Amino acid sequence: MLRIRHEVHEVHEVHEADGGPGALIAEEAAVPAAGDGELLIQVEAIGVTLPTVRKLREGGGPVTLGGEIAGRVVATGPGVTAHAVGDRVAGLCFADAYAEFAVLRTAMASRVPAGVTAVDAVALVRSGLVARGAHEAARVEPGESVLVTAAASGVGTLALQCARAGGAGRVVAAVSSPAKADFVRALGADEVVHYEDADWGGPYDVILDGVGGELLTPAVRALATGGRLVAYSSGGGTVDAYELLVRGASVIGFQMRAIATGHPERYAHWQRDLWRLHAAGTLRPAVHGEIPLAEAARAHALIEQRRNLGKVVLVP
Ligand SMILES: NC(=O)c1ccc[n+]([C@@H]2O[C@H](COP(=O)([O-])OP(=O)(O)OC[C@H]3O[C@@H](n4cnc5c(N)ncnc54)[C@H](OP(=O)(O)O)[C@@H]3O)[C@@H](O)[C@H]2O)c1
Repeated sequence: MLRIRHEVHEVHEVHEADGGPGALIAEEAAVPAAGDGELLIQVEAIGVTLPTVRKLREGGGPVTLGGEIAGRVVATGPGVTAHAVGDRVAGLCFADAYAEFAVLRTAMASRVPAGVTAVDAVALVRSGLVARGAHEAARVEPGESVLVTAAASGVGTLALQCARAGGAGRVVAAVSSPAKADFVRALGADEVVHYEDADWGGPYDVILDGVGGELLTPAVRALATGGRLVAYSSGGGTVDAYELLVRGASVIGFQMRAIATGHPERYAHWQRDLWRLHAAGTLRPAVHGEIPLAEAARAHALIEQRRNLGKVVLVP
């Protein structure tokens, strides 16, 4: 089978093609076996996410290419009762996801309803959970104003829709370039701001932040009194407690993996809810495009250069 692996170069130079030190190598590999509680999936679509691209950029050792996958179960490991061969499933795979066959833990797997394409399923199954979870963590009240940063990303596009559907009064999208404005407006944003704008159009009751880092300071300053910022980005950053104090504001961290491992029942509930929201037309995955698996470096470059409009999906 075809598998894409990350290889670290002896000399750590940055390659524009894959956005970080090292390279993505296409190779022939043996089909893996499903272990205890695992499913072997014939992969039909793979989601590429910023956290993976970022790990490559940061260098260090080789990166295990994880991501969300969707496909058909072709074998089940010992102890599996919830799924059978032939089922269509989607879920988060922590390693070796960039391949024609991949192993998925049953705890991570969600049955894909009939009529949902594999591409839509990967665009939804992780980003949708992050967007929905972050929205819930913010406890958005009807009529409140919501700012979504990295609004054109896989998570951001769905966070905009969650805010809209949740009854927010004013939904504003923050993006890095004017080229993304029409795209985020079409997904429900009332207004669009750019990170470098002096005025972000606040104050906001809620900020759903997918950027972090240096953007955290202006974001916290854009919060209204009693405002909540949900930090779900892999961008890190530091928050000044004084900036929170003077606004009576709070920052709430959110990580999907922590919920999946620490609160599996909540994770399973959200997964079911996700398909319900999709069937109702409340959540519509926005896909930048389908890129052949062998061209994974091109998919990474799109994200690295911040040019993607919606979820970037690889297809074997
Ligand atoms: N907490 C969790 O469980 C969880 C899970 C998955 C993803 N996330 C986070 O959600 C955010 C969006 O991820 P995603 O997978 O949805 O993104 P994606 O679809 O891969 O889109 C990437 C977009 O994110 C924006 N971005 C923000 N900071 C960036 C940076 N430092 N470098 C490059 N692009 C950056 C860019 O849009 P702009 O240039 O317009 O900002 C870029 O186009 C990320 O911060 C990611 O770490 C969190």
